[in-house]
Amino acid sequence: SNIVVPAIINVDVEGAVINRHLYGHFAEHLGRCVYGGFYVGEDSEVPNEGGIRLDVVEALRALNIPNLRWPGGCFADEYHWMDGIGPKVERPSMVNTHWGNVEENNHFGTHEFLALCELLGAEPYISGNVGSGTVKEMSDWVEYLTREGDSPMVRLRKANGRDQPWQVRFWGLGNEAWGCGGNMTAEQYAAEARRFGTYSRNHGDNKLYRIAAGANSADYAWTETLMKMLGELGCANRPAAFMQALSFHYYTIPGTWQNKGDATRFGPDDYYATLAQAARVDELITGHANVMDCYDPGKTVGLVLDEWGTWWNVEPGTNPGFLYQQNTLRDALVASLHFDIFHRHADRLVMANIAQTVNVLQAMILTDPDTGALVLTPTYHVFEMNKGHQDAASLRVDLPTGVPARDTLKTVSLSASRKNGEVLVSLSNLDIDEPADIELDLRGGAVTDVHARILTAGALQDHNTPATPAAVAPRTHDQVTATAGGLRVHLPAHSFVTVAGRLA
Ligand code: AHR
Repeated sequence: SNIVVPAIINVDVEGAVINRHLYGHFAEHLGRCVYGGFYVGEDSEVPNEGGIRLDVVEALRALNIPNLRWPGGCFADEYHWMDGIGPKVERPSMVNTHWGNVEENNHFGTHEFLALCELLGAEPYISGNVGSGTVKEMSDWVEYLTREGDSPMVRLRKANGRDQPWQVRFWGLGNEAWGCGGNMTAEQYAAEARRFGTYSRNHGDNKLYRIAAGANSADYAWTETLMKMLGELGCANRPAAFMQALSFHYYTIPGTWQNKGDATRFGPDDYYATLAQAARVDELITGHANVMDCYDPGKTVGLVLDEWGTWWNVEPGTNPGFLYQQNTLRDALVASLHFDIFHRHADRLVMANIAQTVNVLQAMILTDPDTGALVLTPTYHVFEMNKGHQDAASLRVDLPTGVPARDTLKTVSLSASRKNGEVLVSLSNLDIDEPADIELDLRGGAVTDVHARILTAGALQDHNTPATPAAVAPRTHDQVTATAGGLRVHLPAHSFVTVAGRLA
């Protein structure tokens, strides 16, 4: 007989709103993410608009991508935006020293990125260069992007074909300043961020949401220093004008930095170690949020996890500097587990960006370098199945008798939300072998018109390729039955299920 797990959801008690920006994305000038992934150039045979791949745009539009972070990552701190504007033939090239030492021709620059965001319907999130750039360079970029009327940067923008300013809210003050972004101490970076943040001005009604480059994983001391030095919160509980949020990065790497493990060849122990690593993001968000609570109990400063996801050894035969990896059902379950955790922290965590959207690390889309064929990954499907949580009110889920576990890893994970009279419940069964039945006790309202979908596969190693593009793809799930108090949902081993219904 199956394991039965009772779960209580009070559908009439709304928690914090799940910011849609928790479903954010990340596109760096790294490997084939931008070039070949998002952008093929106007002369390509791949259907494009201004060089931007239309098949990629169409696939991503189905995810309701709320924001796209660009141009890095580490690349952001060696990027000089003025090299990426004007006629393409005149744009100077540079060496991308972080990622494969390849030449970057700057054909994808500011205008191309903003055009991509417009096609996607996503807000831009631009990471400015603190590591090797100047305050003036950053200040000019903000003016170029967001100022109306007449000014030196506005004239330059207009000369490059764009009359109206763009709306750019999300503004990153550098990236990983403790490492590739300048190898700074927290104190050094905080002082830099004060200057860069000050001169990143609000022009007209464009109000920047400045995001300071935060900690690596569990470096709570970094967060504490930023909260002390970037806030004016101690005395007046008032956020500083030059920082509205701070970030941190956390990747799921169960192996060592030198040998991270393979994306598709792994055993049960590797699998459970991976999911246990992924579950750690709960502890990390709690740790950073606790530090922030000391300085900012009113939660005016946002916490942003602007890089997350699995990081494996590159696929055999590919450039080690391009970070190209396959994506299996295991990666999908890493994603579904992250989202349950993000939803529980919706009061402080305001944005998250998976690394990265196309052809790099835990991607949504993989494109074939020779044929251009596009494949949607299992992770893509989790983003699609979960998109109803964006901007919904979180609903607390209680598991009164506890949940099954493998060592420290709890193998059943749930989260729920409501929006516009619809309830959406996400359920993951992380166990490799054991199915589970979840007895959902829905209190405070009945749910009708229930429909459910499932993402699973014969094996956790299953993945999609151009030859088998739907090896891991969602299907209708008919193993949901009404009970006196709610619903019984059957979860096969290693599966992700979403159940949606209308509040009666
Ligand atoms: O996403 C790949 C890299 O990981 C990013 O450029 C950097 O910020 C992080 O170390």
